[in-house]
Formats: sequence, structure tokens, C-alpha cells
Amino acid sequence: MTTNLGGPILARWTAPVPPLRVEHNQRRFVIAMVQHNSHDGSLELFERNWRTYRAVVDHDLMEHRALSDVLKAMVEALVRPGWAWADLGCGDLALLAPLLRALPLGRFEAVDAAAAVLPLAAANLEASAAGPVPFPCRWSHRDLLAWAEQPEPASRFELITCSYALHHLPDEGKQRALAALAGRLAPDGALLIADVFRRDGESRAAYIERYGQRVRESWGVLEVADRQRVLDHLSAHDEPAERDAFVACARGAGWASRWIWTGRHGAEALLLLWPASANDPSVGLDLEGFDG
Ligand SMILES: C[S@@+](CC[C@H](N)C(=O)[O-])C[C@H]1O[C@@H](n2cnc3c(N)ncnc32)[C@H](O)[C@@H]1O
Repeated sequence: MTTNLGGPILARWTAPVPPLRVEHNQRRFVIAMVQHNSHDGSLELFERNWRTYRAVVDHDLMEHRALSDVLKAMVEALVRPGWAWADLGCGDLALLAPLLRALPLGRFEAVDAAAAVLPLAAANLEASAAGPVPFPCRWSHRDLLAWAEQPEPASRFELITCSYALHHLPDEGKQRALAALAGRLAPDGALLIADVFRRDGESRAAYIERYGQRVRESWGVLEVADRQRVLDHLSAHDEPAERDAFVACARGAGWASRWIWTGRHGAEALLLLWPASANDPSVGLDLEGFDG
């Protein structure tokens, strides 16, 4: 069944391709270099201008601070000793690194289609005065859809997170990712998707106009060139799903879900998903104050 997530289904995504080579295999880090699908320029902001995105995060323009608080509370409550965690579209891991260091994980995998960010992520996790984390880390230069659709037997993770990355996939890609991620999650695991979403009934054009207005009117703290880069990226590459349509699509792929947090602009939000056959992992958690 094909569920339209509220926007046009684009056909630019191709089938995943096999790994090219393992680039680097040191004591604890494996960077898997994998050819990935064409991204039609959507990665340019992250490959060439990470500094621009860094400024967006540093000035809390996309509500990373509130999101980090709720993610931290969720993850700390969910994670059990030995759990495997995969973060898709990891970026430089600046926000997750302190949390990662404090957890009793069994292993961690960071996945990003932009090669330039992986060394930054590795450095952020290693830069602690406390030294390296005590669990193995894998740094995968890979499209998240290709990662999700990896043929069996792919290892499973108890926790999969994806923060502000999924909206770069067209609807068909998001739908395929939701279907495939069910095969990468352990039966008692949880998937946390933090992203921008359209309001129910809002067209992509209306969303781009609304978000663009927010950038033009209240992101003045950015340099003009950075702001323009964000606006160009937004209008050319952002494909956020409608909230209800996304939840319906997830349900069709076998997920149960619960909104945990919604930002004050009605775009940024955090959705918890778990296999519909399992129990809600958030039962008993104190989520008061997160305004889901
Ligand atoms: C907006 S940044 C978010 C970074 C970080 N997760 C955060 O929350 O700050 C989006 C990240 O997703 C990556 N990305 C975008 N599309 C992707 C894809 N199809 N597969 C893997 N990574 C992708 C980008 O390279 C970038 O590092």
C-alpha cells in the first residue's frame, strides 16, 4: 500500500548499493565508506557549510535545546545496559555526545550521508576529558534509507534515533524507511524520530512559506549569507511530512506511536515509535512538562 505523506512522491531515489570499501579500521572505530544515492544537492549545506548549521543549533533556532532535554529524559529512561543504539543523520553529534558518554551502551553506530560530518562526530564523542567511550562505535558514511534497507542478516538495535534528517527524504523514501526500520529494531526496542512536520492539511508550499517567514523575521542573528543558504536549502530540499499522515504511514508499516513533544512553532516535534505488537515503552515514564 502506498500512503502519500501529504506531498508529492518524488522518484529520484534509487535502490541501495553495496558497500564500496572499508576505509579505516582502527582500534575502536570503523568508518564504513559506502557509495550512496544521489541527493540532488540536499547534502550541500551539511557537506560544505556545516558551520551554517552549527550556528543554527548554537542559537537554538530549531529548538534543539528543548528537544535535547526531552530526548535526554526519554533515552535515559529507556536504555538498559548493553543496548545497541544507532543514530541516523547523526551530523556532528554535538548534542548527543554528552548523553552517549553517560550511557551503559553495548555499541553505537552513527550514520550520515555527508562524509564531512563523521570525523566531527567521532571527535565530539572522543573529546571528553574522561577519554574514549567504553563501547565500540561504528561511523557509517551511508544513506539512511540504504542503511535501513540493508539485507538480512543485518544487526538489530534496541534504540534507533533520527533527528532532523528524515524530512530530506521524499514521501516514498520516508515510507520505505519506516517499513525497513522495523527490520533493524530489536523486538523490545524504540525508534525516536525528531523532525520538522507540516501541520495537518498544510501544503508543502504553505509550510515553506511559513518556515521561510520565520527564518526571515527571527533568524537575524545569523549572517545574511548563512540565512540565505538556509532559505535556499529549505525551499529546494525540505519535504516534511504531515503529522497525521506520517503516523498513519507508520501504522501501516507496523508501528505504534506517540507524540512526546511539539515545539512552540508547530513544526519541530518528537515522535516515539515501537513495534505495534510490543508494549508502549513510555508507559510509566514521567513525561509531564514535555507537552506532546
Ligand atoms: C539537519 S542535520 C541534523 C544533524 C543532527 N542529527 C542534529 O539533530 O543536529 C541533518 C543531517 O542528516 C544528514 N542527512 C540528510 N539526508 C540524509 C540521508 N538521506 N541519509 C543519511 N544522512 C542524511 C545530513 O548530512 C546532516 O548531517
